Order: sequence, then structure tokens, then C-alpha cells
Amino acid sequence: MNLKSFILPAALALSALCASADAAMESKIDNLLSRMTLEEKIGQLNQLSGYGYAPAMVGQIKAGVVGSILNDVDPVTVNKLQRVAVDSTRLGIPLVFARDVIHGFKTIFPIPLGQAASWNPAIVEQGARIAADEASSAGVRWTFSPMLDIARDARWGRIAEGFGEDPYLTSVLGVAMVKGYQGDDLANPSSIAACAKHFAGYGASESGKDYNTTWIPEMQLRDVYLPPFKAAADAGAATFMCSFNDINGVPSSGNRHLLRDILRGEWGYDGLMVSDWGSIQQMIPHGFSADLRQAAEQAIAAGVDMDMEGYAFISHLKELVESGSVSMADVDNAVRNVLRLKYRLGLFDNPYVDEANANRFFLPASLDAATRAVQECAILLKNDNNVLPLKKGVKVAVIGPMADARHDQNGTWSFDMEKDRSVTPLESLRKLLGSKNVIYAPGVKYSRDRSTEGFAEALDAARQADVVIAFVGEEAVLSGEAHSRVDITLPGAQKELLQELAKAGKPLVTVYQTGRPMAIAQDAAVSDAVLYSYHAGTMAGPGLANLLTGAAVPSGHLPTVLPRMSGQTPLYYAHKNTGRPAEGITLIDDIDLEAGQTSTGCTSYFLDAGDGPLYPFGYGLSYTTFDYAAPVLSASEMGPDGSITVTCRVTNTGSREGAEVAQLYVRDMVGSLIRPVKELKGFEKFSLKPGESRDVTFTLNAADLGFHLLDNSYVVEPGDFQLWVAPNSAAGEPVAFKIVK
Ligand code: NOJ
Repeated sequence: MNLKSFILPAALALSALCASADAAMESKIDNLLSRMTLEEKIGQLNQLSGYGYAPAMVGQIKAGVVGSILNDVDPVTVNKLQRVAVDSTRLGIPLVFARDVIHGFKTIFPIPLGQAASWNPAIVEQGARIAADEASSAGVRWTFSPMLDIARDARWGRIAEGFGEDPYLTSVLGVAMVKGYQGDDLANPSSIAACAKHFAGYGASESGKDYNTTWIPEMQLRDVYLPPFKAAADAGAATFMCSFNDINGVPSSGNRHLLRDILRGEWGYDGLMVSDWGSIQQMIPHGFSADLRQAAEQAIAAGVDMDMEGYAFISHLKELVESGSVSMADVDNAVRNVLRLKYRLGLFDNPYVDEANANRFFLPASLDAATRAVQECAILLKNDNNVLPLKKGVKVAVIGPMADARHDQNGTWSFDMEKDRSVTPLESLRKLLGSKNVIYAPGVKYSRDRSTEGFAEALDAARQADVVIAFVGEEAVLSGEAHSRVDITLPGAQKELLQELAKAGKPLVTVYQTGRPMAIAQDAAVSDAVLYSYHAGTMAGPGLANLLTGAAVPSGHLPTVLPRMSGQTPLYYAHKNTGRPAEGITLIDDIDLEAGQTSTGCTSYFLDAGDGPLYPFGYGLSYTTFDYAAPVLSASEMGPDGSITVTCRVTNTGSREGAEVAQLYVRDMVGSLIRPVKELKGFEKFSLKPGESRDVTFTLNAADLGFHLLDNSYVVEPGDFQLWVAPNSAAGEPVAFKIVK
């Protein structure tokens, strides 16, 4: 059968079906709206934090002043509260229960930044699917995830929650997460609504300090910060959350241009916009609103539909409408967006969680998937003399505060994790290597511990062992919301501990579990091998132990650069070249006494850090090796609407099967606005057996090589380009091509 003749009519029939389902839903919403009082409408726009089946909350639901509750996660409580909304309010509109399910609900997966290191959308989608299944079984039908903020400053604690520094990688993985949460049908009781957050520009917080101001020229907003949100909107993300920060002086909760002109106008988005926690009210300390009344007026006018724990709408909208300051149409639109979410989730037909099938947590298949995720999310940065994988029968000294950190290995935003279900690296190594082959001496008790009391015991253990494995990093509380750091090296006495361990003269394997990209130059210098894992969740232990022993092969690649020193941040691969790119670098210790002002050359670098990161974006080793042949282009030029294909043969030249991530980068050599030195335009992860080759093919569309000008128009400019197909952003040889008129 001719596939086209089958697919086309089927697709047309499906879209006709969807259109009529949408029309039916919209007419139900119209009908409901026409019967709602102003008070009932405003109630739908109010989201409160839950505190169980408490009389005060029950009273508020009965009074019709609550549209959604966040943070109640017990199925029985959820059903009892829902029954009040359905049975004891005039119109019986169900509540929607929400929770921050950021990287797993009970079974915790690696933090999103860690998942980004997998460069594998299937891993991200599967993690989100499992999170949705677990969370929905507790009554949660709406998560505030994925976080799509591009973050290029590792000091910012929330870098943990996103997919790193690159708009393309973040877009692909963000869409995968949305699909995982929402499944094929949002009305399925095990689907949960995604929330693309924080709209927008939050990751550009000045100096990486959380909630700080941002200055983002609109063309940069459109080129760098908005693409992942556009991708999520196109993928059907049911909700958006606006961000805490201001952009160029306008807080997002009052940013009409962002919320209405771009999101609704240009992108045609019809989902729900929720404020961030109290962000409407926070326009007062921002200095944008004189009082809560004005904040409510500005927020609804800007296009915020639901007020999360801000009490602005519930306190002032009625009077604002009655006095004519806010139009009924704006309120109706917001209510329409809330009701649409509830219809899409199927809550009008099926408001209750199935208590007989509740609390589907920690299923064996979920734990297996979490283990595989840990394995794909850790990045092998260094492996001198093939220290890893560990040889059979070795005796290891397990050192460091993160070796047995049952709580901290789960990372930020793991509210619902159960510490006792975490399996630590120490436990897993004891299991895999045998307890008698593992000597444990933590050296320091927790990541910030400055005491060196435990050093002697740790050094003694190192001396008794064949290999030393140091599990270092950050406690969970050192990253995430409101947890920014200026110094992004290892906290406490951990740096000193590594230097001490090196004295044992044994191969030193340093394993990181962190919430951010860290500056690890000194640690890496004394380590023979470095395995960089972000907080990896419930199954951190088995996953990391499998990698260390060779039961699994590392395949993670960095989703951000790793700086040499804290002071280099913000640092990212897609930077501009400057008029004086670094060359002939003279570092601080090599400068002659009384050297002349210009003796170090006059180019763009730091005297104490040189130029560029310690490890580039996209970097990651394996236990095998890969060879990249020169890319072959289908043509050396294309028109502004054209495309070319780029094929590159990748061969496994080592002796183990392993997975590689082939990455496609492009540079526009000359632009009417300067273009970055490289931009990721495609990637593919695949496994190869020893000796096996694969032709990786990318389609490069000229339309994707444009950028925004000062007037916000998008242009694809003819001219010279270069491309690379490479294992990271600093490797490979460029191939030239052109876009012609
Ligand atoms: C504030 C955070 O910025 C946001 O990411 C989160 O979803 C909300 N609080 C709700 O907890």
C-alpha cells in the first residue's frame, strides 16, 4: 500500500476530529462562563498552597475562591478536597492539584542539568513519564516543569533545574520532557500537565544571584532565551509560568509584550499562564506597582491567568472590574484558559484519583530506568592510563562526603523523595566489589565540612587500597532556587582532601555529584580519572557503580562548559569572537618583573585563567574511542529557503561497545550583527560495536541559520558559513559552505 495515500486521509480525519473536539470543548467553556458570577470567575484564577483537609481550606473551596491547589500530594486528601469542589459548590468545577515534580516524584532521576548530559531525549521523556505516573497516582495532575531557562552562569543555583546553556539542546530535551509528562492524551488519568517555566529570561540574572535583574536586548531574547519556550508551546505544553525577574525594567508578571504580544499573538498559545509564587505581589518590591491593587491590575492586563499564592486577584479583581479598571473580557479570557486546562485534563469527567490504584511508587521498572538514566547522565572527563573501569579484584578506598549521602544525592527539588529508598555509591560498590574490597573513610563528613580531622584516616585508607575513589561535590541545598554561590569550587575542605589523597601515590578517581557546573581545575590536575555526575537521584549508587566497574560505559556529554575558575562565569561556548580573540597567552606567573604594559599582548583573555573553559560544551569520553571522518555535504551552497545534508562517518575504534553523541555546529562568518563562534544545530546519540561505523546524517536548513536584527525581524543572510561534525564544541575541522541569494 502506498503510505501517502493512507497517511494523508488519516491525518486529515484526525485533525478534523481534533478540531471538532476542540469546538465542543470551547462551547462547553462558553456555556459554563455564561453561568458564572464574577466572584466564581475570580475564584478560578486563585491558586493556593494546600495544607491537607483543613477546615479553613474546605471553607475556601466551598466559598468558590480556589481554582487550584499546589502541594497536596496525598490521594485520599486530594479526593476529599475535590469532592468539596465538585459536590459543594454551585457549578461543581473541579480543582486542579499541582506540585513541583522536577526530576521525579518518588523515584528521583538525575537533576534536569544531569539529564541534559545524556543528550538523549528518550531518557528525558521516559523519566518524565515515570514521574507523571507516580505523581498522578498521588492525585497530582499538574507539574511546574520543565524549566527551560538558558543558564550560562554557573553561580546561579537554578542552573541545576534546566538543560544548560544551549537553546537547541534545551529545546529538544524540553519537548521530550513535555511529551513524557503529557503523554499522547492529557485526559489520560496518568498524564500530568507540563508547565514551561520561567517565562522568560530568568537564567540571565545579573551575577548569577537569584531573582536578580536581567538586561536582555530583544534580539538576544529571541535568539537565545525564547526558542525553548516556543518549542514547548508548539509541542503542546499545557501551561506556562512567568518568571520572577524583570527584563529591562519590566517584571515578567506585568510584561504585556512578552505574555500577550509574543506568546499569545505571535505564537498563538492557548494554554494557561500561572504566575510564579507571589510574583504578582512582588511587583511592589520590584518598584513596578505601588500596591497590590495595581499589581493585580498590571498582571491581568499583561496576561497572567492564575495567581499563585499572591492573593492579588482574589483581593482586588472584583473591585477593579466593577470600577472599570480591568475589563470583563480580560477576566473571561483568563478563566477560559483555566477551564481549558481542566477540560484537557479530563477533570470534568473524571475528577478523582483512583484510590485503588494509588501511590504507584518505586516500581522495579522505574528503578531500572532511573539507573540507566544515571549511567547516561554521568560524564567521563579524564581517564589517564585507563584507570577506569576498575580492574577485577581491586581493593578500593572509598572517600568523600558524597559516597554515602542518602539525602544529598537526590539534589534540589526532590520534595517527595524518600531518603531511605536512595541507594548510595558506597552501598553499591560494596555489593559489586565485595565488602572486603572496599575501605570506607569519608575524610570530611559533609560537603561544607571544613574540618581536616578525618584526613589522616582517609589517607591511611588510600594507602591500603589499589585505587582511591573520592566522591565529592555539593550538598543538595547548595543549588536550586535561592541557592547561588560566588565560589563554584568544591566547598569545605574537599579540595584539600583531594590534594591530601594524591599523596598516597595511588590512582585517584574523583567522582562529582553536584548541582551545577563547577570549577574543578585543581582537583582534576591531581586526579587520574574524573567522572562528573550531577545529583543523580534515588539510583545514583547503582548507576555510578556500574560505570566505575565497567558494567556500563559512560556516554554523557557536558550540557555546559566547565570553567577553569569561578571568576570566568558567565562562560559559554556560543560566545562572540571579539575584535581581539585570545592569542599568545601569557599567564600571570610567566610575566617578567616590571614587564611593559603591552608585553602580554593585547588580546581577550584573563591573566590568571587564560581563555576558554577547562572542558568544552559537549565534551565527554567513553571506555572506547571514536573516529570522525571528514563531513560530506550534499552541496556547498544553498538558497535562503534551501537545505543541504551533512553526512559524517563515525567509527568505534576501541575495543568496547559504546554510545557517542555526534554534534553539528555552524558558524556564520560575517553578519550584519556579529554571530557566535559556534552554534549547535543538531546532534544524534547512537551506539557502536567495536569496529562498527555509522553514517550520521543531518539536514541543515538555511531557514534555521538566521537571527534577529535590532528591529526584531528574523533574517537569513547570504554569505560564508562553516560547519563541524564533532564529538564536542571544541573539536573537528571546519567545512565551508555558503548561503546564496
Ligand atoms: C517558585 C519557583 O520559582 C517555581 O519554579 C516553582 O514552581 C514555584 N515556586 C512553586 O513551588
